[in-house]
Amino acid sequence: MKKILIIGSSGGIGAALEQAYLRKGWECKGLSRQTHGIDFTQPETIPSALSLLNGTFDTVIIATGALTIGRVGPEKTIRAITGHGMADQMQVNAIGPALILSQVGRLLPRDRQARVAVLSARVGSIGDNRLGGWISYRAAKAALNQIVHTSAIELARSHPLLACFSLHPGTVETPLTKPFVANQNSRPALEAAVMLHNVIEGRNAKDTGKFFDQNGVLVPW
Ligand SMILES: NC(=O)c1ccc[n+]([C@@H]2O[C@H](COP(=O)([O-])OP(=O)(O)OC[C@H]3O[C@@H](n4cnc5c(N)ncnc54)[C@H](OP(=O)(O)O)[C@@H]3O)[C@@H](O)[C@H]2O)c1
Repeated sequence: MKKILIIGSSGGIGAALEQAYLRKGWECKGLSRQTHGIDFTQPETIPSALSLLNGTFDTVIIATGALTIGRVGPEKTIRAITGHGMADQMQVNAIGPALILSQVGRLLPRDRQARVAVLSARVGSIGDNRLGGWISYRAAKAALNQIVHTSAIELARSHPLLACFSLHPGTVETPLTKPFVANQNSRPALEAAVMLHNVIEGRNAKDTGKFFDQNGVLVPW
């Protein structure tokens, strides 16, 4: 039976991905802040949560992230940024996933195909940005994309069959988006998760280090 590890399994997309993979007959292991105390604002919780894991996983998904942190939501203009708000975005959306990626190698097989998908966001694309706004979240996701790309290059040396990539999930109905999206532009989480499952499991080593959307189409950096 294939095994998946979902970090952020308590989230809207993380929980739906767990459902989608269970339905496909996978063995699922979920980790989250709520269930295992893995809190990116306290980096020491990351190695202790990961140390509980034994063996390897065919797929690892980092499904964590935040748009509003504390009471600070995405800024409408650069004039609204604060140092603390930006630092919090970096901590949760870029540094936390980086610390997971720094340890993920030991959780992956070296002798067969494996996948690491990291949930990013299209708004982190510099090439696709025509609207401005949301600068701290955008910057943190752009940093995340660089971290994923760099990790993919390094991991390929020890795991030549690995696909490690950033993934935009589309606009999905979850607690993260609730205050911001009109429902007609969004997709229920389970429907999105089924699409994401297909994109993730359709990737192979030639896709490593890239940035895909929910349709499997490349997103510009
Ligand atoms: N929903 C969308 O339309 C959309 C669009 C583009 C990108 N994304 C990205 O997709 C990912 C998942 O989003 P979602 O919609 O599923 O959000 P969500 O429902 O709010 O879930 C967020 C997940 O991240 C975890 N998390 C938040 N802050 C954390 C911290 N400090 N330390 C550890 N874990 C933390 C949450 O844990 P708790 O349960 O403990 O809070 C939860 O598991 C995010 O990276 C988001 O940026 C989502």
